[in-house]
Amino acid sequence: MPAVTQDLLARLALVPMVLEARGLDTTPEAVRRFRAGGDDATADILERIGMEEIPHVAAGVRWFRFLCVRQNVDPTATFHTLTRRNFNGRLKPPFNTDARMRVGFGEEFYRPLSA
Ligand SMILES: [Fe+2]
Repeated sequence: MPAVTQDLLARLALVPMVLEARGLDTTPEAVRRFRAGGDDATADILERIGMEEIPHVAAGVRWFRFLCVRQNVDPTATFHTLTRRNFNGRLKPPFNTDARMRVGFGEEFYRPLSA
């Protein structure tokens, strides 16, 4: 696999599919807590950020899959390899499996890497 493609795959795995996907997991609870504490202004901002994260993760997953198909490598196995190489630690549950599934990010990708 060419080095540039490898770097792009590594970045897609790490940024949208690990870090931004984490936002899908954590934002709903953060919004609930701010609302419960009466801080609707902060809750509204976080809610918007959470909504905006969905297409970011979707784009990452879509391009990651596209590049894997083009390189004739397995997307799930490639995600595991790159994430283990470039992300320090395990992915932290609980996962927002509904939101992740809606963007085509099935559990077979992240569950084997979870704590
Ligand atoms: Fe984002």
